[in-house]
Amino acid sequence: MILRNLLFLLPPEIAHSLVITALKKMPCRKPIELPKSLNVNFFGNKIRSPVGLAAGFDKNAEVVKPMLSFGFGFIEAGTVTKHPQYGNKKPRIFRLIKDEGIINRLGFNNKGVDYFLKQISETKLGNCIFGINIGRNSTSKDQISDYVDLIKIVYGKSNYIVLNISSPNTPNLRDLHNKQELSKLLKSITLTRKSIDSSESIPIILKISPDIDQQTKENIAELTLEYKIDGLIVSNTTISRDSYYNESGGLSGRPLFQLSTELLSDMYKLTKSRILLIGCGGISSGVDAYEKIKAGASLVQLYTALVYQGHQVVNKINLELAELVKRDGFSNITEAVGCIH
Ligand SMILES: Cc1cc2nc3c(=O)[nH]c(=O)nc-3n(C[C@H](O)[C@H](O)[C@H](O)COP(=O)(O)O)c2cc1C
Ligand SMILES: *[C@@H]1O[C@H](CO)[C@@H](O)[C@H](O)[C@H]1NC(C)=O
Ligand SMILES: *[C@@H]1O[C@H](CO)[C@@H](O)[C@H](O)[C@H]1NC(C)=O
Ligand SMILES: *[C@@H]1O[C@H](CO)[C@@H](O)[C@H](O)[C@H]1NC(C)=O
Ligand SMILES: *[C@@H]1O[C@H](CO)[C@@H](O)[C@H](O)[C@H]1NC(C)=O
Ligand SMILES: *[C@@H]1O[C@H](CO)[C@@H](O)[C@H](O)[C@H]1NC(C)=O
Repeated sequence: MILRNLLFLLPPEIAHSLVITALKKMPCRKPIELPKSLNVNFFGNKIRSPVGLAAGFDKNAEVVKPMLSFGFGFIEAGTVTKHPQYGNKKPRIFRLIKDEGIINRLGFNNKGVDYFLKQISETKLGNCIFGINIGRNSTSKDQISDYVDLIKIVYGKSNYIVLNISSPNTPNLRDLHNKQELSKLLKSITLTRKSIDSSESIPIILKISPDIDQQTKENIAELTLEYKIDGLIVSNTTISRDSYYNESGGLSGRPLFQLSTELLSDMYKLTKSRILLIGCGGISSGVDAYEKIKAGASLVQLYTALVYQGHQVVNKINLELAELVKRDGFSNITEAVGCIH
């Protein structure tokens, strides 16, 4: 708490760079032992906990190992783009302290994929389970070719790949939530994967926006099943607001919990539980994580709770989850997935 209060005296982005710098220097500790009931199967790998780090915290893959040591079962690094990007004008991150939320309009600032891959190879990630979240360079004209190129570049270097298909600030015709566009993208992506690796062994996951209508939800469910996409992350930040937040950008943290959990539940029903769902948005306790799992998530991710509660929140959630699983008489967490339906 003392550390948090000091960090909160600084602008959010400076506080974040300080944290990353400190983590890079931190000697790696051995993670604490977690109850076996939290072990989950993640595309053929056994991981210690279903709780993962969401994209955006470690945009450049600089701190995958130290973050794992805090008790996460898996890490998602990125969003990374083909070329380095500065992102939007600062300030572009805002704390909503009373509500434990954050608004960001970073615009995918990152050091580019070359730097990213160098970090991965230098830190010898060996058996760490992590994903790479890829995005389109903001000035690139063809939104599909950037994703195809990036898949070729990062394929085989991580346990899974995530594609951004949410466009919170530009609802236009070329939106990837549009059925025709999305179908074109998924076709190119899956063909690309097949051409590199006929066994299609690296899972491809889509991350979706919570600000979508019923028709879009149905389209996404239909197309993910049709193209055999391996999973969905539900969800990214929202542009919807309670009245007093007046900064533009994506809202995360507690105020996002309900909206993203309802979408998760909808996607579980629409995909008839046939594809892996990762629940993300506003998780700040074991009860929250459990609610996402019961609504259909096999795994969960968080980011904003780290800002408000520090890294201790990860094992707090792990231990609370294990208690809830025991309370409800499940032998492991996987048995609770989707149990409210
Ligand atoms: C400062 C900040 C930066 C983010 N950057 C990314 C990003 O680069 N790519 C991405 O897919 N999501 C990004 N996100 C969204 C998170 O991954 C996550 O989907 C969202 O914050 C909801 O989870 P939370 O409420 O636990 O934070 C970012 C979120 C925040 C707060
Ligand atoms: C969880 O329990 C089920 C049986 O209820 C079992 O099939 C599965 O392998 C277990 N998962 C793990 C990761 O132990
Ligand atoms: C994410 O997807 C949306 C919709 O295609 C696009 O507007 C936005 O620029 C994308 N961001 C990145 C980094 O690809
Ligand atoms: C990528 O985006 C950045 C800024 O968003 C721009 O300066 C750079 O020229 C872009 N590169 C390409 C090849 O699109
Ligand atoms: C809303 O805008 C005003 C300035 O117009 C600013 O002082 C205030 O901090 C903003 N509030 C929030 C919650 O963003
Ligand atoms: C998530 O939302 C942000 C705004 O907060 C947006 O810039 C971005 O395109 C979205 N990213 C993904 C991976 O969907």
